Amino acid sequence: MKKLNFALCIATVATASTLAAQGNPGPTFKTPVATVAANIAARNAATDDPPTWAHDVARIMQNKCQVCHTPGSIAPMVLVTYEDAKKFADKIKQRVATRRMPPDTEIKTIVNWVDAGAPQGDMKDAPPPITLPDPAKWQFADKFGAPDLIVKSRPYTVGPTGQDKWWRPETDMGVTEERWVRAIEIKPSVPLGKRVVHHVLTTLEQDEGPMLQGLASTAMDHTPGARPMSGGLFMEWALGKQGEIYNEDAGKLLLPGAKIRWEVHYYAIGKEVPNDQVEIGVWYYPKGYKPKNRTILNMFNVAAGSELDIPPGQKTVTQNYITLKAPARIENFQPHMHMRGKAAMMEAVYPDGKREVLSYVNNFQWNWHVNYIYADNVAPLLPKGTMLVFTAWHDNTKENPNNPDPEQWIGWGDRTVDEMAHVWVDVTYLEQDDFDKKVADRKKAAQIKP
Ligand code: HEC
Repeated sequence: MKKLNFALCIATVATASTLAAQGNPGPTFKTPVATVAANIAARNAATDDPPTWAHDVARIMQNKCQVCHTPGSIAPMVLVTYEDAKKFADKIKQRVATRRMPPDTEIKTIVNWVDAGAPQGDMKDAPPPITLPDPAKWQFADKFGAPDLIVKSRPYTVGPTGQDKWWRPETDMGVTEERWVRAIEIKPSVPLGKRVVHHVLTTLEQDEGPMLQGLASTAMDHTPGARPMSGGLFMEWALGKQGEIYNEDAGKLLLPGAKIRWEVHYYAIGKEVPNDQVEIGVWYYPKGYKPKNRTILNMFNVAAGSELDIPPGQKTVTQNYITLKAPARIENFQPHMHMRGKAAMMEAVYPDGKREVLSYVNNFQWNWHVNYIYADNVAPLLPKGTMLVFTAWHDNTKENPNNPDPEQWIGWGDRTVDEMAHVWVDVTYLEQDDFDKKVADRKKAAQIKP
Protein backbone atom coordinates (compact mmCIF):
# COMPACT_ATOMS: atom_id res chain seq x y z
CA MET A 1 0.00 0.00 0.00
CA LYS A 2 1.35 3.33 -1.00
CA LYS A 3 2.07 6.77 0.23
CA LEU A 4 -0.81 7.92 2.31
CA ASN A 5 0.17 10.97 4.17
CA PHE A 6 -0.28 9.99 7.75
CA ALA A 7 1.97 8.15 10.06
CA LEU A 8 -0.26 6.73 12.73
CA CYS A 9 -3.97 7.14 13.09
CA ILE A 10 -3.43 8.74 16.44
CA ALA A 11 -1.58 11.57 14.71
CA THR A 12 -3.71 11.87 11.62
CA VAL A 13 -2.97 15.07 9.75
CA ALA A 14 -4.41 14.37 6.31
CA THR A 15 -7.40 16.35 5.09
CA ALA A 16 -10.51 14.79 3.63
CA SER A 17 -9.54 16.02 0.18
CA THR A 18 -6.03 14.62 0.17
CA LEU A 19 -7.44 11.36 1.48
CA ALA A 20 -10.02 11.38 -1.26
CA ALA A 21 -7.30 11.91 -3.84
CA GLN A 22 -5.66 8.80 -2.46
CA GLY A 23 -8.84 6.80 -2.82
CA ASN A 24 -9.71 7.15 0.80
CA PRO A 25 -12.28 9.82 1.62
CA GLY A 26 -13.03 10.33 5.22
CA PRO A 27 -12.98 12.37 8.31
CA THR A 28 -9.98 13.05 10.45
CA PHE A 29 -10.47 13.06 14.15
CA LYS A 30 -7.29 14.44 15.55
CA THR A 31 -8.30 17.22 17.91
CA PRO A 32 -9.85 16.45 21.28
CA VAL A 33 -13.21 18.17 21.73
CA ALA A 34 -11.92 20.22 24.65
CA THR A 35 -9.11 21.67 22.54
CA VAL A 36 -11.52 22.57 19.77
CA ALA A 37 -13.78 24.33 22.25
CA ALA A 38 -10.81 26.34 23.57
CA ASN A 39 -9.74 27.27 20.04
CA ILE A 40 -13.24 28.40 19.19
CA ALA A 41 -13.39 30.57 22.29
CA ALA A 42 -10.02 32.12 21.48
CA ARG A 43 -10.94 32.91 17.91
CA ASN A 44 -14.39 34.17 18.83
CA ALA A 45 -12.68 36.83 20.89
CA ALA A 46 -10.34 37.75 18.04
CA THR A 47 -12.65 38.39 15.06
CA ASP A 48 -15.61 40.67 14.36
CA ASP A 49 -16.51 40.30 10.68
CA PRO A 50 -18.72 37.31 10.03
CA PRO A 51 -17.32 34.81 7.56
CA THR A 52 -18.95 34.73 4.12
CA TRP A 53 -19.56 31.93 1.69
CA ALA A 54 -17.36 33.42 -1.01
CA HIS A 55 -14.42 34.31 1.21
CA ASP A 56 -14.36 31.54 3.79
CA VAL A 57 -16.92 28.78 3.64
CA ALA A 58 -16.84 27.67 -0.02
CA ARG A 59 -13.22 26.54 0.37
CA ILE A 60 -14.01 24.50 3.46
CA MET A 61 -16.92 22.78 1.74
CA GLN A 62 -14.71 21.98 -1.25
CA ASN A 63 -11.96 20.51 0.88
CA LYS A 64 -13.95 18.78 3.55
CA CYS A 65 -17.48 18.07 2.38
CA GLN A 66 -17.84 17.82 -1.38
CA VAL A 67 -16.07 14.52 -1.68
CA CYS A 68 -19.30 13.00 -0.33
CA HIS A 69 -21.90 15.77 -0.74
CA THR A 70 -21.87 15.74 -4.51
CA PRO A 71 -24.41 14.45 -7.05
CA GLY A 72 -24.42 10.65 -7.16
CA SER A 73 -22.28 10.21 -4.06
CA ILE A 74 -23.19 8.64 -0.74
CA ALA A 75 -24.39 11.69 1.20
CA PRO A 76 -28.07 12.67 1.20
CA MET A 77 -27.71 16.20 -0.20
CA VAL A 78 -25.41 18.17 -2.47
CA LEU A 79 -23.24 20.93 -0.96
CA VAL A 80 -21.62 22.50 -4.01
CA THR A 81 -23.16 25.91 -4.69
CA TYR A 82 -24.00 28.78 -2.37
CA GLU A 83 -27.71 27.99 -2.82
CA ASP A 84 -27.18 24.35 -1.79
CA ALA A 85 -25.36 25.31 1.37
CA LYS A 86 -27.68 28.17 2.30
CA LYS A 87 -30.69 25.87 2.07
CA PHE A 88 -29.15 23.45 4.58
CA ALA A 89 -27.38 26.04 6.76
CA ASP A 90 -29.10 25.10 10.02
CA LYS A 91 -28.50 21.40 9.56
CA ILE A 92 -24.90 22.07 8.60
CA LYS A 93 -24.31 24.06 11.75
CA GLN A 94 -25.86 21.36 13.89
CA ARG A 95 -23.78 18.60 12.28
CA VAL A 96 -20.56 20.53 12.38
CA ALA A 97 -20.94 21.90 15.89
CA THR A 98 -21.62 18.43 17.28
CA ARG A 99 -18.55 17.16 15.41
CA ARG A 100 -20.48 14.62 13.39
CA MET A 101 -19.09 16.09 10.18
CA PRO A 102 -15.37 16.41 10.08
CA PRO A 103 -13.86 19.85 9.58
CA ASP A 104 -11.76 20.18 12.79
CA THR A 105 -10.41 23.74 12.89
CA GLU A 106 -12.96 25.16 10.44
CA ILE A 107 -15.84 24.44 12.83
CA LYS A 108 -15.96 28.00 14.11
CA THR A 109 -15.99 29.55 10.64
CA ILE A 110 -18.99 27.48 9.60
CA VAL A 111 -20.88 28.03 12.86
CA ASN A 112 -20.28 31.81 12.75
CA TRP A 113 -21.28 31.93 9.09
CA VAL A 114 -24.63 30.30 9.84
CA ASP A 115 -25.14 32.50 12.93
CA ALA A 116 -24.60 35.60 10.77
CA GLY A 117 -27.43 34.50 8.48
CA ALA A 118 -25.22 32.55 6.03
CA PRO A 119 -24.10 35.60 3.98
CA GLN A 120 -22.90 35.04 0.44
CA GLY A 121 -20.20 37.72 0.33
CA ASP A 122 -18.54 39.02 -2.82
CA MET A 123 -18.53 36.19 -5.34
CA LYS A 124 -15.28 37.61 -6.79
CA ASP A 125 -13.60 36.10 -3.70
CA ALA A 126 -15.07 32.67 -4.29
CA PRO A 127 -12.74 29.85 -5.29
CA PRO A 128 -13.39 28.23 -8.69
CA PRO A 129 -15.42 25.03 -8.45
CA ILE A 130 -13.39 21.86 -8.01
CA THR A 131 -13.66 18.71 -10.07
CA LEU A 132 -14.65 15.77 -7.95
CA PRO A 133 -14.07 12.13 -8.68
CA ASP A 134 -17.04 10.59 -10.48
CA PRO A 135 -18.34 7.83 -8.16
CA ALA A 136 -19.49 5.85 -11.20
CA LYS A 137 -15.86 5.53 -12.34
CA TRP A 138 -13.05 3.38 -10.98
CA GLN A 139 -11.10 5.67 -8.65
CA PHE A 140 -7.81 3.88 -9.30
CA ALA A 141 -8.21 4.28 -13.09
CA ASP A 142 -6.16 7.50 -13.01
CA LYS A 143 -3.25 5.58 -11.58
CA PHE A 144 -3.50 2.23 -13.31
CA GLY A 145 -5.93 2.60 -16.23
CA ALA A 146 -9.03 0.43 -16.57
CA PRO A 147 -9.12 -2.66 -14.33
CA ASP A 148 -7.67 -5.82 -15.84
CA LEU A 149 -10.57 -7.83 -14.48
CA ILE A 150 -14.08 -6.83 -13.39
CA VAL A 151 -16.30 -9.25 -11.52
CA LYS A 152 -19.96 -8.51 -10.69
CA SER A 153 -22.13 -9.97 -7.96
CA ARG A 154 -25.34 -11.66 -9.14
CA PRO A 155 -28.25 -9.14 -9.36
CA TYR A 156 -30.34 -8.69 -6.23
CA THR A 157 -33.50 -6.65 -5.81
CA VAL A 158 -33.64 -4.68 -2.57
CA GLY A 159 -37.26 -4.13 -1.52
CA PRO A 160 -38.45 -0.68 -0.37
CA THR A 161 -38.87 -1.75 3.28
CA GLY A 162 -37.99 -4.62 5.57
CA GLN A 163 -35.05 -5.79 7.61
CA ASP A 164 -31.43 -5.87 6.49
CA LYS A 165 -30.50 -8.60 4.00
CA TRP A 166 -27.27 -10.49 3.44
CA TRP A 167 -26.75 -11.59 -0.17
CA ARG A 168 -24.19 -14.35 -0.55
CA PRO A 169 -23.75 -15.41 -4.18
CA GLU A 170 -20.62 -17.04 -5.57
CA THR A 171 -19.10 -15.84 -8.85
CA ASP A 172 -16.47 -17.43 -11.04
CA MET A 173 -13.70 -14.90 -11.68
CA GLY A 174 -12.74 -16.36 -15.05
CA VAL A 175 -9.07 -16.64 -14.06
CA THR A 176 -7.20 -19.17 -16.20
CA GLU A 177 -3.60 -18.64 -15.10
CA GLU A 178 -1.78 -17.67 -11.90
CA ARG A 179 -1.76 -13.84 -11.57
CA TRP A 180 -0.53 -11.47 -8.86
CA VAL A 181 -2.80 -8.60 -7.86
CA ARG A 182 -1.44 -5.08 -7.20
CA ALA A 183 -4.73 -3.27 -6.47
CA ILE A 184 -8.40 -3.98 -5.82
CA GLU A 185 -11.39 -1.65 -5.74
CA ILE A 186 -14.99 -2.45 -4.81
CA LYS A 187 -17.70 -0.26 -6.30
CA PRO A 188 -21.39 -0.40 -5.45
CA SER A 189 -23.63 0.79 -8.28
CA VAL A 190 -24.37 4.52 -8.66
CA PRO A 191 -26.55 6.19 -7.57
CA LEU A 192 -28.81 3.74 -5.72
CA GLY A 193 -26.38 0.94 -4.94
CA LYS A 194 -24.27 3.36 -2.90
CA ARG A 195 -27.32 4.03 -0.75
CA VAL A 196 -28.41 0.45 -0.07
CA VAL A 197 -25.04 -1.30 0.38
CA HIS A 198 -23.74 -1.17 3.94
CA HIS A 199 -20.72 -3.40 3.46
CA VAL A 200 -19.26 -5.97 1.09
CA LEU A 201 -17.02 -8.90 1.95
CA THR A 202 -15.31 -10.87 -0.75
CA THR A 203 -13.66 -14.17 0.09
CA LEU A 204 -11.38 -15.86 -2.38
CA GLU A 205 -12.20 -19.53 -3.02
CA GLN A 206 -9.42 -21.31 -4.85
CA ASP A 207 -7.49 -24.53 -4.60
CA GLU A 208 -4.51 -23.62 -2.46
CA GLY A 209 -3.18 -27.19 -2.40
CA PRO A 210 -2.40 -28.77 0.96
CA MET A 211 -1.86 -25.34 2.55
CA LEU A 212 -1.31 -21.73 1.69
CA GLN A 213 2.07 -21.09 0.15
CA GLY A 214 4.97 -20.13 2.36
CA LEU A 215 4.61 -17.81 5.30
CA ALA A 216 1.13 -16.73 4.35
CA SER A 217 -0.12 -19.94 5.94
CA THR A 218 0.54 -18.44 9.37
CA ALA A 219 -2.23 -15.96 8.70
CA MET A 220 -4.76 -18.76 8.64
CA ASP A 221 -4.04 -19.41 12.30
CA HIS A 222 -5.70 -16.08 13.06
CA THR A 223 -8.73 -16.52 10.85
CA PRO A 224 -11.30 -18.77 12.47
CA GLY A 225 -13.11 -21.11 10.10
CA ALA A 226 -10.53 -20.75 7.33
CA ARG A 227 -10.63 -23.68 4.93
CA PRO A 228 -7.86 -25.16 2.80
CA MET A 229 -9.87 -24.22 -0.28
CA SER A 230 -9.89 -20.61 0.78
CA GLY A 231 -7.41 -17.98 -0.31
CA GLY A 232 -8.63 -15.88 2.59
CA LEU A 233 -10.41 -12.58 2.40
CA PHE A 234 -9.85 -10.76 -0.86
CA MET A 235 -11.16 -7.35 0.12
CA GLU A 236 -13.65 -5.75 2.48
CA TRP A 237 -15.61 -2.62 1.59
CA ALA A 238 -17.79 -0.35 3.71
CA LEU A 239 -19.08 3.23 3.36
CA GLY A 240 -16.17 5.62 2.97
CA LYS A 241 -13.68 3.09 1.59
CA GLN A 242 -12.61 2.55 -1.99
CA GLY A 243 -9.84 0.09 -2.40
CA GLU A 244 -6.49 -1.35 -1.58
CA ILE A 245 -3.14 -0.88 -3.28
CA TYR A 246 -0.37 -3.25 -2.31
CA ASN A 247 3.22 -2.42 -1.65
CA GLU A 248 5.51 -3.19 -4.62
CA ASP A 249 7.02 -6.18 -2.85
CA ALA A 250 3.64 -7.70 -2.03
CA GLY A 251 0.27 -8.58 -3.49
CA LYS A 252 -2.56 -11.09 -3.58
CA LEU A 253 -2.38 -14.28 -5.58
CA LEU A 254 -5.15 -15.49 -7.90
CA LEU A 255 -5.09 -19.11 -9.01
CA PRO A 256 -6.89 -20.66 -12.00
CA GLY A 257 -10.53 -21.37 -11.22
CA ALA A 258 -10.70 -18.71 -8.49
CA LYS A 259 -14.17 -17.78 -7.27
CA ILE A 260 -15.43 -14.83 -5.24
CA ARG A 261 -17.79 -15.66 -2.39
CA TRP A 262 -19.69 -12.41 -1.77
CA GLU A 263 -21.40 -11.12 1.30
CA VAL A 264 -23.31 -7.96 0.47
CA HIS A 265 -25.13 -6.36 3.40
CA TYR A 266 -28.16 -4.50 2.01
CA TYR A 267 -30.59 -2.20 3.76
CA ALA A 268 -33.88 -0.74 2.55
CA ILE A 269 -34.22 2.99 1.76
CA GLY A 270 -37.96 3.35 1.17
CA LYS A 271 -37.90 2.64 -2.55
CA GLU A 272 -37.16 -0.48 -4.54
CA VAL A 273 -33.67 -0.88 -5.96
CA PRO A 274 -34.03 -3.50 -8.69
CA ASN A 275 -31.26 -5.89 -9.79
CA ASP A 276 -28.46 -4.26 -7.87
CA GLN A 277 -24.94 -5.45 -8.60
CA VAL A 278 -21.67 -4.71 -6.83
CA GLU A 279 -18.50 -4.68 -8.91
CA ILE A 280 -14.97 -5.58 -7.97
CA GLY A 281 -12.13 -4.26 -10.11
CA VAL A 282 -8.74 -6.00 -10.10
CA TRP A 283 -5.43 -4.62 -11.38
CA TYR A 284 -2.66 -7.17 -12.03
CA TYR A 285 1.07 -6.86 -11.83
CA PRO A 286 2.64 -7.37 -15.27
CA LYS A 287 2.66 -11.01 -16.36
CA GLY A 288 5.59 -12.85 -14.87
CA TYR A 289 6.15 -10.31 -12.05
CA LYS A 290 6.10 -12.19 -8.79
CA PRO A 291 6.19 -10.02 -5.67
CA LYS A 292 8.28 -11.46 -2.90
CA ASN A 293 5.48 -11.51 -0.33
CA ARG A 294 1.86 -12.38 -0.16
CA THR A 295 -0.42 -9.98 1.71
CA ILE A 296 -3.25 -11.51 3.69
CA LEU A 297 -6.29 -9.58 4.86
CA ASN A 298 -7.03 -10.58 8.43
CA MET A 299 -10.20 -10.04 10.34
CA PHE A 300 -8.96 -9.75 13.90
CA ASN A 301 -11.87 -10.21 16.21
CA VAL A 302 -11.78 -7.93 19.24
CA ALA A 303 -14.53 -9.92 20.92
CA ALA A 304 -13.19 -13.45 21.23
CA GLY A 305 -15.74 -15.91 19.83
CA SER A 306 -17.78 -12.92 18.58
CA GLU A 307 -19.31 -12.46 22.03
CA LEU A 308 -20.19 -8.96 23.13
CA ASP A 309 -22.01 -7.92 26.27
CA ILE A 310 -23.10 -4.29 26.19
CA PRO A 311 -25.67 -3.54 28.92
CA PRO A 312 -28.17 -0.68 28.50
CA GLY A 313 -26.89 2.75 29.44
CA GLN A 314 -23.26 1.64 29.76
CA LYS A 315 -19.90 2.13 28.12
CA THR A 316 -17.89 -1.06 27.65
CA VAL A 317 -14.33 -2.04 26.82
CA THR A 318 -13.54 -5.25 24.93
CA GLN A 319 -10.06 -6.60 24.29
CA ASN A 320 -8.35 -9.45 22.46
CA TYR A 321 -4.86 -10.26 21.23
CA ILE A 322 -2.92 -12.47 18.85
CA THR A 323 0.76 -13.32 18.67
CA LEU A 324 2.59 -13.07 15.35
CA LYS A 325 4.19 -16.37 14.36
CA ALA A 326 6.41 -14.78 11.73
CA PRO A 327 7.95 -11.32 11.24
CA ALA A 328 5.41 -9.03 9.61
CA ARG A 329 4.69 -5.63 8.18
CA ILE A 330 1.30 -4.18 9.12
CA GLU A 331 -0.22 -2.28 6.20
CA ASN A 332 -3.37 -0.64 7.53
CA PHE A 333 -5.89 -0.33 10.34
CA GLN A 334 -9.62 -0.35 9.75
CA PRO A 335 -11.92 -0.85 12.71
CA HIS A 336 -15.44 -2.15 12.16
CA MET A 337 -18.25 -1.53 14.66
CA HIS A 338 -21.85 -0.38 14.42
CA MET A 339 -23.94 2.41 15.89
CA ARG A 340 -22.61 2.08 19.46
CA GLY A 341 -18.99 1.88 18.32
CA LYS A 342 -16.98 4.60 20.03
CA ALA A 343 -13.24 3.99 19.66
CA ALA A 344 -10.76 1.33 18.61
CA MET A 345 -7.05 0.79 19.15
CA MET A 346 -4.27 -1.53 17.98
CA GLU A 347 -1.15 -1.85 20.12
CA ALA A 348 2.02 -3.88 19.78
CA VAL A 349 3.69 -5.58 22.73
CA TYR A 350 7.17 -6.40 21.43
CA PRO A 351 9.04 -9.54 22.54
CA ASP A 352 11.20 -7.34 24.81
CA GLY A 353 8.07 -6.13 26.61
CA LYS A 354 7.92 -2.64 25.10
CA ARG A 355 4.35 -1.59 24.43
CA GLU A 356 3.37 0.84 21.66
CA VAL A 357 0.11 2.23 20.28
CA LEU A 358 0.15 1.59 16.53
CA SER A 359 -3.20 3.17 15.69
CA TYR A 360 -6.04 4.70 17.65
CA VAL A 361 -9.37 5.98 16.30
CA ASN A 362 -10.88 8.02 19.12
CA ASN A 363 -14.15 9.11 17.52
CA PHE A 364 -15.41 6.18 15.50
CA GLN A 365 -18.46 6.85 13.27
CA TRP A 366 -20.20 3.76 11.97
CA ASN A 367 -21.19 5.33 8.65
CA TRP A 368 -17.57 6.16 7.79
CA HIS A 369 -15.49 3.05 7.64
CA VAL A 370 -12.17 4.70 7.06
CA ASN A 371 -9.24 2.52 6.11
CA TYR A 372 -6.14 4.10 7.63
CA ILE A 373 -3.24 3.02 5.45
CA TYR A 374 0.28 3.47 6.77
CA ALA A 375 2.76 5.36 4.62
CA ASP A 376 5.58 3.10 3.39
CA ASN A 377 8.18 4.53 5.72
CA VAL A 378 6.14 4.01 8.89
CA ALA A 379 4.17 0.79 8.29
CA PRO A 380 4.92 -1.10 11.52
CA LEU A 381 7.62 -3.76 11.15
CA LEU A 382 7.00 -6.28 13.90
CA PRO A 383 9.33 -9.12 14.89
CA LYS A 384 8.11 -12.68 15.31
CA GLY A 385 6.51 -13.10 18.73
CA THR A 386 5.05 -9.59 18.86
CA MET A 387 1.62 -9.54 20.47
CA LEU A 388 -1.02 -7.38 18.79
CA VAL A 389 -3.54 -6.07 21.32
CA PHE A 390 -6.93 -4.91 20.02
CA THR A 391 -9.28 -2.79 22.14
CA ALA A 392 -12.79 -1.63 21.24
CA TRP A 393 -15.01 0.79 23.16
CA HIS A 394 -18.81 0.84 22.81
CA ASP A 395 -21.09 3.58 24.10
CA ASN A 396 -24.64 2.41 24.81
CA THR A 397 -25.58 5.53 26.79
CA LYS A 398 -27.85 8.35 25.65
CA GLU A 399 -24.76 10.59 25.29
CA ASN A 400 -23.99 8.73 22.06
CA PRO A 401 -25.89 10.65 19.35
CA ASN A 402 -25.88 7.58 17.05
CA ASN A 403 -27.51 5.33 19.67
CA PRO A 404 -31.03 4.38 18.51
CA ASP A 405 -32.05 2.99 21.92
CA PRO A 406 -29.93 3.26 25.11
CA GLU A 407 -32.42 1.03 26.97
CA GLN A 408 -31.57 -2.09 24.93
CA TRP A 409 -29.07 -4.79 25.88
CA ILE A 410 -26.80 -5.22 22.88
CA GLY A 411 -24.86 -8.28 21.77
CA TRP A 412 -23.00 -9.42 18.69
CA GLY A 413 -25.09 -9.54 15.52
CA ASP A 414 -25.19 -8.79 11.82
CA ARG A 415 -27.78 -5.99 11.85
CA THR A 416 -26.52 -2.42 12.26
CA VAL A 417 -28.59 -2.17 15.47
CA ASP A 418 -26.57 -5.11 16.83
CA GLU A 419 -22.88 -4.69 17.49
CA MET A 420 -19.60 -5.96 16.18
CA ALA A 421 -16.01 -5.34 17.09
CA HIS A 422 -13.30 -6.36 14.70
CA VAL A 423 -10.47 -4.78 12.80
CA TRP A 424 -9.43 -5.39 9.21
CA VAL A 425 -5.68 -5.52 8.92
CA ASP A 426 -3.60 -6.44 5.90
CA VAL A 427 -0.56 -8.32 7.13
CA THR A 428 2.47 -9.00 4.95
CA TYR A 429 4.49 -11.81 6.49
CA LEU A 430 8.22 -11.49 5.83
CA GLU A 431 11.14 -13.91 5.74
CA GLN A 432 13.56 -13.21 8.59
CA ASP A 433 16.37 -11.89 6.35
CA ASP A 434 13.99 -9.62 4.45
CA PHE A 435 12.60 -8.33 7.73
CA ASP A 436 16.10 -7.64 9.13
CA LYS A 437 17.02 -5.74 6.00
CA LYS A 438 13.87 -3.61 6.11
CA VAL A 439 14.48 -2.75 9.76
CA ALA A 440 18.12 -1.81 9.02
CA ASP A 441 17.09 0.34 6.02
CA ARG A 442 14.60 2.20 8.13
CA LYS A 443 17.13 2.87 10.87
CA LYS A 444 19.51 4.23 8.25
CA ALA A 445 16.85 6.52 6.76
CA ALA A 446 16.00 7.82 10.25
CA GLN A 447 19.66 8.71 10.84
CA ILE A 448 19.96 10.67 7.61
CA LYS A 449 17.03 12.91 8.50
CA PRO A 450 17.88 14.98 11.59
C1 HEC B 1 -17.10 10.76 4.03
C2 HEC B 1 -18.28 11.30 3.48
C3 HEC B 1 -18.83 12.61 4.04
C4 HEC B 1 -18.15 13.80 4.25
C5 HEC B 1 -16.69 14.11 3.99
C6 HEC B 1 -19.14 14.73 4.76
N1 HEC B 1 -20.36 14.12 4.85
FE1 HEC B 1 -22.10 14.99 5.53
N2 HEC B 1 -23.03 13.17 5.36
C7 HEC B 1 -22.48 12.02 4.84
C8 HEC B 1 -23.46 10.95 4.91
C9 HEC B 1 -23.22 9.49 4.44
C10 HEC B 1 -24.61 11.48 5.49
C11 HEC B 1 -25.91 10.73 5.76
C12 HEC B 1 -25.77 9.89 6.97
C13 HEC B 1 -25.78 10.75 8.17
O1 HEC B 1 -26.75 11.46 8.37
O2 HEC B 1 -24.79 10.71 8.92
C14 HEC B 1 -24.31 12.89 5.77
C15 HEC B 1 -25.21 13.78 6.35
C16 HEC B 1 -24.98 15.14 6.51
C17 HEC B 1 -25.95 16.08 7.03
C18 HEC B 1 -27.34 15.76 7.51
C19 HEC B 1 -28.32 15.70 6.41
C20 HEC B 1 -29.73 15.54 6.91
O3 HEC B 1 -30.61 15.53 6.07
O4 HEC B 1 -29.92 15.41 8.12
C21 HEC B 1 -25.35 17.32 7.01
C22 HEC B 1 -25.97 18.65 7.43
C23 HEC B 1 -24.00 17.14 6.51
N3 HEC B 1 -23.81 15.81 6.20
C24 HEC B 1 -23.08 18.16 6.35
C25 HEC B 1 -21.74 17.96 6.03
C26 HEC B 1 -20.74 19.00 6.03
C27 HEC B 1 -20.98 20.47 6.34
C28 HEC B 1 -19.55 18.41 5.68
C29 HEC B 1 -18.18 19.03 5.59
C30 HEC B 1 -17.77 19.83 6.69
C31 HEC B 1 -19.82 16.98 5.46
N4 HEC B 1 -21.15 16.77 5.69
C32 HEC B 1 -18.85 16.04 5.09
C33 HEC B 1 -21.21 11.88 4.34
C34 HEC B 1 -20.21 12.83 4.42
